[in-house]
Amino acid sequence: MPIITINDKQIEVEKGTNLIDAVKKLSVEIPHYCYHPGLKVDGNCRMCMVEVKGPRGFMPQIACNTPCVDGLEVKTDTQVIKDMRRNVMEFLLHNHPIDCPICDQAGECRLQDYYMKYGKYDNRSTVEKVHKDKAIDVGPLVVLDQERCVLCSRCVRFCDDISKTNELVISNRGVHSKIGVFPGTKIENKYSGNVVDICPVGALTSKDFRFKMRVWFMKTTKSVCHGCSRGCNILIDHKDEVVQRFKPRENKQVNDYWMCDDGRLSYKNINNPTENGIFPPNVGINDQISTTSATLATIANKNRFLEATEKGQTLEYDEAVNKFKSTIKSFKSRYSPKSVAALASPDSSVEDNWLLKVYMNDIVGSDKVFGASFRAEGYYDDFLIKADKTPNRKGLEYLGISTNNDDLIKALEAKEIKLLIVMNNDLVGEGGEKIKSLLDGVEVITMATHENATTDMANLALPTSMYSEKFGSIVNFEGHLQKFDKVFDTFQMDDSLAIPEWEFFANLIKDFSPEREYFDIEDVWTEMRDKVSGFSGLSFYEIGDQGISIPKKIQKEQELRDLEIKKANEEAEAKALEAEQKPKEVIS
Ligand code: SF4
Ligand code: SF4
Ligand code: FES
Repeated sequence: MPIITINDKQIEVEKGTNLIDAVKKLSVEIPHYCYHPGLKVDGNCRMCMVEVKGPRGFMPQIACNTPCVDGLEVKTDTQVIKDMRRNVMEFLLHNHPIDCPICDQAGECRLQDYYMKYGKYDNRSTVEKVHKDKAIDVGPLVVLDQERCVLCSRCVRFCDDISKTNELVISNRGVHSKIGVFPGTKIENKYSGNVVDICPVGALTSKDFRFKMRVWFMKTTKSVCHGCSRGCNILIDHKDEVVQRFKPRENKQVNDYWMCDDGRLSYKNINNPTENGIFPPNVGINDQISTTSATLATIANKNRFLEATEKGQTLEYDEAVNKFKSTIKSFKSRYSPKSVAALASPDSSVEDNWLLKVYMNDIVGSDKVFGASFRAEGYYDDFLIKADKTPNRKGLEYLGISTNNDDLIKALEAKEIKLLIVMNNDLVGEGGEKIKSLLDGVEVITMATHENATTDMANLALPTSMYSEKFGSIVNFEGHLQKFDKVFDTFQMDDSLAIPEWEFFANLIKDFSPEREYFDIEDVWTEMRDKVSGFSGLSFYEIGDQGISIPKKIQKEQELRDLEIKKANEEAEAKALEAEQKPKEVIS
């Protein structure tokens, strides 16, 4: 690997690493506007100037177009560089409106940050600024302010090279250059929100987030989008138990730097509709953008299910838990343990589904745990969006829970099931008339995050936490295991007593077997790593921020086993050879 020298300190980097990224290893910052690691290099803003050693000594050049090679020597903090950065800032801000007090980007704006770090010049301009258009509606999710734009072309390159929809263009010349959409077009691609994320200034802002919240008031939690089986890595920005927005989080193995618009807006499912801000929940959702958007808009308008009900009547949570226990007991004795079945959920975490299975197998004494889901497939493409709109179907497979819908249908048709526990799965709403008629005569207990057709018809319905209200993990369509963190507790929303599914079943298991205690999620993993072959040797903590590819892990383990076998065989062969070559004892 090449060794490079930054400000007289040496580091080893991967060959070809971009210099801007390489220096981060030394906690050195090279300021930049137009460079983005997910886009092609354009080299237009000149903010990333550094001095690089060449035949004529150290000379200024842009860092973003400087791949690391062995022996590269760079200085990032000379007076020449400091002056250049200050001059670039002065140029960029010359016609900028400086309307930070009314700009949504304030607090996360590179013009603000870099002015304070690298600018700090006194304004020398005495002429009127060049004015351009403001608050232009350029798409269902995006608003453009041309005056704030620094013409870095990140957004243009995103639409040209990533979404490949080419809506944006820089027109005119010199000081009159401006960003805009081609006449008669809008930024209507399914990934349009990403241009807002990558705009380094407040030129492109989110219609949905605009004027909702100052960024410095929010807290951020790492999570994973549950909108489809891709599982894009996200950051959840929230304040006072209300989620304000989702932003993509880098993960090269899953979503690179991006996320789709439906996933971005799916934060509205977490909040109650009234908390989704001054804009209606379907702002930015346009049926032409995506066929799944209509579904999302419906879900986003659904109330959270926060209180237990019995046949539609509100029930104290503790009463509901007791009712749950007594119902199981009564069906077990009236029929048999196997008359009780459970429907696991591809929307719930690996841990939730595991403890449902453990509860059913070990406490109820039934092996009837199904992983059916009747959610319709939706729009998909060859970039990120998957047709399967459930996030953890693969996780069920790793846990040994069948995801074949026919298995559940056959069991219902055979009238084997008298009591069905439906965990976080709108079986009635998504299964349609066929399922409804098959459930005739079956008592249903459900656990749900939202009001739905199953909570409406269930004999007993208990609220449960959403993924944002618990720690957990899911496995995406490729077998990539990823963890998500808790944003806040469900009880912080309208005092609901809902708890995560795994905690609910952990309590029930402990009731029957006090020695089996799952104190926290790591205890669930202690059990899973011994019993689920794909998860062997893992802990929740070890999943890390970037997740773990289970197929690759299995392959690696297999390779190690093969290597050990090969080594053992070689040793055995060598021993045999040695024995053969030993001079035989002559018996006289
Ligand atoms: S709108 Fe933003 S991303 Fe696009 S060119 Fe201007 S500053 Fe860059
Ligand atoms: S592609 Fe799927 S997982 Fe990614 S942001 Fe969109 S809905 Fe969420
Ligand atoms: S970041 Fe290098 S020229 Fe813009």
